[in-house]
Amino acid sequence: MERSSLKCKIGPSILNADLSQLYVESQKLIDNGADYLHLDVMDGTFVPNLTFGHPVVKCLRKKIQNAFFETHMMVQDPEKWIEPMADANVNQYTFHIEPVLQNVLKVCRKVREAGMKVGLALKPDTGIEAVRQYIDHADMILVMTVEPGFGGQKFMGEMMPKVQWLRRNYPLLDIEVDGGVGLNTITSCAEAGANMIVSGTAIINSVDQRAVMASLRETVESSIHKCNV
Ligand code: DX5
Ligand code: ZN
Repeated sequence: MERSSLKCKIGPSILNADLSQLYVESQKLIDNGADYLHLDVMDGTFVPNLTFGHPVVKCLRKKIQNAFFETHMMVQDPEKWIEPMADANVNQYTFHIEPVLQNVLKVCRKVREAGMKVGLALKPDTGIEAVRQYIDHADMILVMTVEPGFGGQKFMGEMMPKVQWLRRNYPLLDIEVDGGVGLNTITSCAEAGANMIVSGTAIINSVDQRAVMASLRETVESSIHKCNV
């Protein structure tokens, strides 16, 4: 397989959108060029904030049938929500390894058995060594570039060595960045090797969502291309 099969994907986070209009906001993002929707699920325990859970995701899925849904599970007990999220037709279940360090493989297996892709997420303080042994059991690694919990925080450039390490060792791995990613920070992410780009406020607050997503994509694609020559 050639490295060129690595694809750039833009996954807006609707966390800071008008959640009373969840469907309209989500559909607008898809119409403006999103490759997938990054749905931030928080339980108020793993992170000091609450958002929505599987009942809301299931309702959204009824309205939007074709888009790829990733749920970013910022929850203390990720095992608990696998079946309900699979039932909501979620495509990828991305969970934090920190609360389940003794059980990562078991959770990965259950996510796969439920028919979803596996994403493994790392908080900023979690080093790459904590996830190394599980990479072969995952479809994607999410390197958080802010402390999970809130949109609109400052991007942590010091996370880029984790992305670089992953890209160097896994040329075809899907690597996602999330937190503070926008037009001012995308170059670092792209050069480090991220190919799945979550962006919340930078897209939601812009007057031209389509242009922002196109620009994020262009930056990432040009880095992927440079790696191929
Ligand atoms: C933070 C969430 C992110 C965040 C992205 O806990 O996981 O998805 O909402 O929003 P921005 O891009 O505004 O940091
Ligand atoms: Zn997220």
